[in-house]
Amino acid sequence: MALRTYQSIAPKTGSGCYIDASSVIVGDVHLDDDASIWPLVAARGDVNRIRIGARTNIQDGTVLHVTRRSTQNPDGHPLVIGDDVTVGHKCMLHGCQLGNRILVGMGAIIMDGAIVEDDVFIGAGTLVPPNKRLESGFLYVGNPMQKKRPLKESEIAFLKQSAINYVQLKDEYLAQP
Ligand SMILES: CC(C)(COP(=O)(O)OP(=O)(O)OC[C@H]1O[C@@H](n2cnc3c(N)ncnc32)[C@H](O)[C@@H]1OP(=O)(O)O)[C@@H](O)C(=O)NCCC(=O)NCCS
Repeated sequence: MALRTYQSIAPKTGSGCYIDASSVIVGDVHLDDDASIWPLVAARGDVNRIRIGARTNIQDGTVLHVTRRSTQNPDGHPLVIGDDVTVGHKCMLHGCQLGNRILVGMGAIIMDGAIVEDDVFIGAGTLVPPNKRLESGFLYVGNPMQKKRPLKESEIAFLKQSAINYVQLKDEYLAQP
């Protein structure tokens, strides 16, 4: 059972979402229309909320988690991911905010309070430290991350195309008998 209730709060999914049976989605997690969750993803919305935008795909083995509210930090660190985002295999997204049309490369780690603006490419294996802001239109790589260069037009177009590809793929999975 991929979708699990925690303290009476159940995950919510929009229309056309695909959720692999081997994934675990717990508590206060909302998926907008046509989002997809691939094998072995863990999304634990227990001590704060997780929001996943429309047409966003979260690929195999990725872990999504949040930080609880406290006196020093009344909202804690929810995890908010925008529309048309590709989160590659085996990433760790923890208590951060991602805008729209972003590619998070395989194995990247994004820590609490980090903000990724729209149209950003994060290379495979990149570490984004807490509270950093990644500027729209740039490629970031490395551990810790470095602002590598502006994105080419073809790369900006690919950010949206990657999301479209995954919407098509999840539709094929949903159509399987
Ligand atoms: C960063 C990336 C987009 C390549 O960008 P690029 O500018 O075409 O990179 P190049 O191949 O020209 O390499 C430029 C330099 O960056 C280095 N580099 C490439 N990818 C890197 C990465 N992820 N982290 C650190 N350095 C990287 C290269 O080794 C090269 O170094 P050099 O100049 O010393 O030889 C690509 O390597 C990447 O990480 N893609 C992510 C793919 C992915 O995870 N998709 C999600 C799964 S669907």
